[in-house]
Amino acid sequence: MEPLPKLSPRPACSEDLDSVLAIEGASHPFPWSRSGFEKELSTAWSRFLVLTDDETDSRIFAYMVYWIQTEGVSLLNITVAPEWRGTGLSRKLMQLMIQDTIREEIPRILLEVRESNLTAIRLYESCGFKKTHERRSFYSNGESAWVMESRTEGIETPIQ
Ligand SMILES: CC(C)(COP(=O)(O)OP(=O)(O)OC[C@H]1O[C@@H](n2cnc3c(N)ncnc32)[C@H](O)[C@@H]1OP(=O)(O)O)[C@@H](O)C(=O)NCCC(=O)NCCS
Repeated sequence: MEPLPKLSPRPACSEDLDSVLAIEGASHPFPWSRSGFEKELSTAWSRFLVLTDDETDSRIFAYMVYWIQTEGVSLLNITVAPEWRGTGLSRKLMQLMIQDTIREEIPRILLEVRESNLTAIRLYESCGFKKTHERRSFYSNGESAWVMESRTEGIETPIQ
């Protein structure tokens, strides 16, 4: 595998969507559509971030979408390109979201995750999220969701 280049986060733009959709299609059983991502680009409270290499600023390694609302931040999507998984990229994105939440003085972050997605559940647990309850048959294939929450109160040094 080629070495991981130097990466930086930036807000996504419409030119990123072809690459995002290719990663999305290879990563999720029920991928988001182009119009789903387009909507996030124009939603005021949505943060849609991509991690790109510093050299081209156009090659996408990972992305995330979360909503900033005063009562809580909601994580909607976090995806790493299959060939770059296991290199710490999702943890980097989670840190950015947590730092943003603390900066905005929002008390908690919420997310839903398929109960079969053990990799994502491990990631969230390692970032301080705890399961609060389940939503039975939440997904269109009948699968249940875990609702997980992290409270930002008292976090002074975001996780490394
Ligand atoms: C879930 C996902 C985002 C993790 O991204 P990643 O960049 O590979 O994860 P990282 O390398 O940052 O690892 C962070 C933590 O995640 C967990 N993790 C990552 N890969 C794992 C694996 N194969 N098995 C178990 N836990 C794993 C571990 O807790 C890991 O921490 P550690 O390395 O200290 O043990 C990635 O697998 C992915 O894009 N999956 C498909 C899309 C998806 O399911 N997204 C979540 C729901 S929207």
